Amino acid sequence: METTMKAGLNVRRFKYVKKLVIDPRLEEVNSALAELIDVSTKHPKEKFASSADQLLLYQSLSYMLNAKKILDCGTFTGLSALSFALGCADDGHVYTIDVNKEFVDVGREYWDKAGVAGKITSILKPADEVVKEMAQKPEHLGSFDIAYLDVPKHLYEPVYEYIVPLLRPRGLLLVDNIFMSYGVLEDEANYDPRDTAVLDMAKFNKRISADERMMHNFIDIGDGLAIVVKK
Ligand SMILES: C[S@@+](CC[C@H](N)C(=O)[O-])C[C@H]1O[C@@H](n2cnc3c(N)ncnc32)[C@H](O)[C@@H]1O
Repeated sequence: METTMKAGLNVRRFKYVKKLVIDPRLEEVNSALAELIDVSTKHPKEKFASSADQLLLYQSLSYMLNAKKILDCGTFTGLSALSFALGCADDGHVYTIDVNKEFVDVGREYWDKAGVAGKITSILKPADEVVKEMAQKPEHLGSFDIAYLDVPKHLYEPVYEYIVPLLRPRGLLLVDNIFMSYGVLEDEANYDPRDTAVLDMAKFNKRISADERMMHNFIDIGDGLAIVVKK
């Protein structure tokens, strides 16, 4: 199958990883994920899609934790939701949040094809509202094994504050786009004041790295990924 793929920022590294890991794993894992990657990278908003190496990492982490409850903030075409669902426990479940029904509907066919549609609940509401409501329900507090933060950047901080109590101790938080096309690596004095995504991301990165409730790692994959463990 001809699979078009986002390379993230580091194209040389991606080509190497694609040959040895991504291509064989997409063959082996599930052709539905490969097909959805193809469809998503041809979508007019293809920039929204997580890169293929990230998606396979999410599947592995979900598998490693035998995750039972996963919160996926920012569904787009359902790539991250599908990856988590493919890796999670047999009785695991993914709650995936987005405000755009048209985007989410693209993914449904592939969730079905992969045989995991029953493991995914799509919630069509703003992520900050959903996590706030969840945090008011005792059954959700401390119950999520994994949360993925991949919504507009101004929402990262408010959504994060509710995600922390929703995660179980040793639960995993994944945050996408932490390098913001390497924009955050510039000297702060050189930040473009009109580039609100870089400003929001830089502020958020400082916030989480100073949060002593969590153990942080910043990884150079895709557009930068924080892998954060709740203590
Ligand atoms: C970067 S994309 C998500 C990509 C997806 N996680 C993946 O792995 O391919 C961000 C998504 O956030 C959605 N979004 C925008 N505003 C939102 C809001 N207030 N609450 C939830 N989702 C929102 C957009 O519709 C878009 O689909």
